[in-house]
Amino acid sequence: MSRKIFVTTALPYSNGPFHIGHIMEYIQADIWVRFQRMQGNQVHFMCADDAHGAPIMLKAQSEGVTPQQLIARLFAGRPKYLQGFHLSFDHWYTTDSPENTQLSQDIYARLKAAGLVYQKPVEQFYDPVKGMFLADRYIKGECPNCHSKDQYGDACEVCSTVYAPTDLINPYSALTGAPPVLKASEHFFFRLSDPRCVAFLKEWLDAAGRLQPQVANKAREWLAGSGELRLSDWDISRDAPYFGIPIPDAPGKYFYVWLDAPIGYLASLKNYFALGKARANGEPRGFEEFLAAADTEQIHFIGKDIIYFHTLFWPAMLKFAGHPYKVPNNVYVHGHLHVRGEKMSKSRGTGISPLRYLDIGLNPEWLRYYIAAKLNANVEDLDFNPDDFIARVNSDLIGKYVNIASRAANFITRHFHGELRYSQDLAGLSDAVRTVAAEARNDYEAREFGKSMRACMAFADWINQYFDANQPWVLAKDPTKAAQLQDVCSRALYGFKLLSVLLAPVMPQLAERVARELFGLDRAFRWSDATVAPERINAYRHLMTRVDPKQLDALFESDAAAATAAPAGGSATAVTAPGAAALNAGGSGGAATLSLDEFKRVDLRVARILDAQAVAGADKLLKLTVDLGSETRTVFAGIKSAYDPQSLKGRLTVMVANLAPRKMKFGVSEGMVLAASGEAPGLYLLSPDSGATPGMRIT
Ligand code: 2FM
Ligand code: ZN
Repeated sequence: MSRKIFVTTALPYSNGPFHIGHIMEYIQADIWVRFQRMQGNQVHFMCADDAHGAPIMLKAQSEGVTPQQLIARLFAGRPKYLQGFHLSFDHWYTTDSPENTQLSQDIYARLKAAGLVYQKPVEQFYDPVKGMFLADRYIKGECPNCHSKDQYGDACEVCSTVYAPTDLINPYSALTGAPPVLKASEHFFFRLSDPRCVAFLKEWLDAAGRLQPQVANKAREWLAGSGELRLSDWDISRDAPYFGIPIPDAPGKYFYVWLDAPIGYLASLKNYFALGKARANGEPRGFEEFLAAADTEQIHFIGKDIIYFHTLFWPAMLKFAGHPYKVPNNVYVHGHLHVRGEKMSKSRGTGISPLRYLDIGLNPEWLRYYIAAKLNANVEDLDFNPDDFIARVNSDLIGKYVNIASRAANFITRHFHGELRYSQDLAGLSDAVRTVAAEARNDYEAREFGKSMRACMAFADWINQYFDANQPWVLAKDPTKAAQLQDVCSRALYGFKLLSVLLAPVMPQLAERVARELFGLDRAFRWSDATVAPERINAYRHLMTRVDPKQLDALFESDAAAATAAPAGGSATAVTAPGAAALNAGGSGGAATLSLDEFKRVDLRVARILDAQAVAGADKLLKLTVDLGSETRTVFAGIKSAYDPQSLKGRLTVMVANLAPRKMKFGVSEGMVLAASGEAPGLYLLSPDSGATPGMRIT
């Protein structure tokens, strides 16, 4: 009986394009999904944009568009990445949809009917200028502990003290700079502390094989927590203005984005059923019947930062909403991707742009292989290291795997018209093939992809050693050794076929070419093909090229450009090239041409300098706190020689907003302000004309 599996990856926010961390998660889930499909299991692989919430509303405002226009633009950009990295989602939808509204309101009504929703007034900071309540991240002020300025409302980035926004000294709204006022309003709460929820979650967390042990332990700690860690009820409402789903019978109240986001998994599935895509994928039942069926597995792949939502709130919501909703079977958690040892910023990512990876022609299956080779079933972070990447691709994929076919196939084509023949007993090889296939199957199932890749490469080593030991190039010179030559090459190609099947979940495009072009199948591989000895091959065609280290240099070029653009001293982020040639890093004033598309990749914004401070120990730098409309950033700029910090406060300037954050000795610089300079001394910050406001895009 084939399994019926509904698989999701975490829904990305609609406030930016994918970063490499998203792609890593999708690759992990996609490998598992493709493996399941190869086993003959029926998979429905879903995702959607997580479209609601204050940040998206504010970002849209700052761009002068509606939230719907903003999310539509991002939505339209998704296929390029999904196709580019060979991600086989069956459906991609959005949480800003009729299905999600209906499902969220339905689940809410059922939770309310179960006595798990209540109302109480909450006092919160309110921005009187903007006319809205402020989430902690939109409040800044002086840390009550170490007195560092411009710290966020929940924790100090300098001394790590955690506090409430009301503890900040001289708090201000990060949106307008206005001092916030405390204001009360009614909020809706989900009673997670209800003994029914607690009892259910205990049982759910304890189910064998449901969660990775470290994830279950973490969730149990929260569940059993006391004091500050005590499981508290969950505030599920937000006041207008908010971009979200209205709460029925509560004018001006919306569901907090985290309530409707996971319901978006179901909304995507529902829309997929409504479009007839489930039927086309072999599922004859309707949405509700499928969802409620005991044999439907519901599996979520997520990152470690959202465990709390997926192992406490989400299963409890589903459980107490009742039929046809069903609690998740598994939540599989991965660690974070670091790039060259550096942590990534969740909102902007860092280091590697997935689109740049594709645009400069790096093979997506190299990245899929590299990630697979580094993944295991634990919640460990993994690091993208360019040298390691080059070594693994070139030595494993080209030097070990492809090498087998490129060497063995030519003898078979040239001497035997493509015919394979095993003149000696195949039992030993067949046993080895079956053992490796069975091990790889278990490892894939358990998401131990690194182990599967290691087993494949060990087997490839074994085949290559066998091939070399038998010296087919010597056999080929002696007509009396023809049968032996054919046998040796046939065995090597049997091994190659096995490897191609086992690597197919990771490198689907390459494997399908091998299936069709080399082995003459009229379809992609199935898992069962692994243990069937091939009988013929077609002529070998080049399968994969080596990575050129220069390609990796190009991938990281944007980082390098930022470093080159810094004035002597190497640490500032202001541009000093003549004519504010920010984009022509290292140029001498005569700008190299660039296409309009390239230029459009640079996100130039109007920014207001909220604060400017000298940096102890840095001669040239000022630390700027700038308002970008929907957020504030810290930028280190090499403009100290030209400006008194006090004179900068409040003025508008122009900033490159999508520059990868750069870690500097004094902190992280999150962008670049633009300045002009010429032969003579002097540095001149750019300013927009009057009327411009922070966050406006410069086009
Ligand atoms: O953390 C995030 O990026 C969220 N947008 C994930 C949502 S996952 C699910 F709940 F929708
Ligand atoms: Zn502090």
